[in-house]
Amino acid sequence: MTDILEDDLDQPVRTGTIRVHGPEGFEGMRRAGRLVAEALDMIGEYVVPGVTTDELDRRIHAFTLDHGAVPACLGYKGYSRTICTSINHVVCHGIPGDRALKEGDIVNIDHTVIVDGWHGDSSRMYAVGEIGARARRLVDVTYDALERGLAQVKPGNTFGDIGYAIQSFVEAQRMSVVRDFCGHGIGRLFHDAPNVLHFGRKGEGAVLKAGMFFTVEPMVNLGKPHVKVLSDGWTAVTRDKSLSAQCEHTVGVTEDGVELFTASPGGLFRPRWS
Ligand code: MF3
Ligand code: CO
Ligand code: CO
Repeated sequence: MTDILEDDLDQPVRTGTIRVHGPEGFEGMRRAGRLVAEALDMIGEYVVPGVTTDELDRRIHAFTLDHGAVPACLGYKGYSRTICTSINHVVCHGIPGDRALKEGDIVNIDHTVIVDGWHGDSSRMYAVGEIGARARRLVDVTYDALERGLAQVKPGNTFGDIGYAIQSFVEAQRMSVVRDFCGHGIGRLFHDAPNVLHFGRKGEGAVLKAGMFFTVEPMVNLGKPHVKVLSDGWTAVTRDKSLSAQCEHTVGVTEDGVELFTASPGGLFRPRWS
C-alpha cells in the first residue's frame, strides 16, 4: 500500500488508508488545534452552577464564528449543536439543552472546528464548583491515561501500543475503558482511518509513521465499560449509571515523537484541584 500525501489532493477522499501529511498539513492542523483549544480555555469561567449547557453551546458557537472558523459538529450526521456536553454518567455525545449544571457535576465539553479546511478536535473535563473525591480520581485517571497513550506516539510504535498503555493503566486503577467509541484519523476529514482504539495489545495494529494525524480520546468509567445510546440517537450513557470521564487531543506524529495540536494556550487542559 502506498501512502497518500493528503496535501497534494484537491478533495479529501475516504480511502481507508492512513494518510501521511506534509508541512502544509502540520501548519493547517496547528491553526485548527489552537483555535479549538482557545475556545475550550474561554469557556472554563462559564462552567458554574446554574448555567445551562445551551448557554455554553451558544458561547462556543459565537466564539468559533467570530474567529472565522466553522463548527464541525453542527449539522454533522444531523447533529443539531456546536458542542457535545456530557454530564456525570453521560459517556459522550450529550446534547446541550436547558439542563442547568449543579454543584458537584463533572462535564465534558467536546468541540471541533474547521479552519481553512483542517479539523481540530478536543475535549476536556470541567468541574462544576466543588466535586467529590471519586469524581476527582476518575478525572485524574482519565488524564493520566491520555498522557500514557500519547507517550507511545512515535514512528515505529503501533496503534496497539497506544491502546495497551491506556487500558493497562486504567484497569490497574480498577476503572474501565469504554470500547464502543474510539479516536480517529483526522485532517481535512473529521473522522478518517484509522479507528484509534483505547484498548489493545502491544505491537498490534498499524505502525505509526511521521505525518499521521489522529485523535486520542479515552472514555473511562468508574464502573463497568458498557454503554447504551438514548432514544435521541446520540447521548451515550453508562449502563450501570456509573460516572464517566473523557479527554481528547488531536495530534500529529513527528520524526521523533508527537506534536499536540490542541495544547491549551492557557495551560488549562487538565483540571487541577485546590
Ligand atoms: N467531537 C466528537 C469526536 O471526538 C464527535 C462528535 S460527533 C457529533 O469525534 F456529531 F456529535 F458532533
Ligand atoms: Co474526536
Ligand atoms: Co471530539
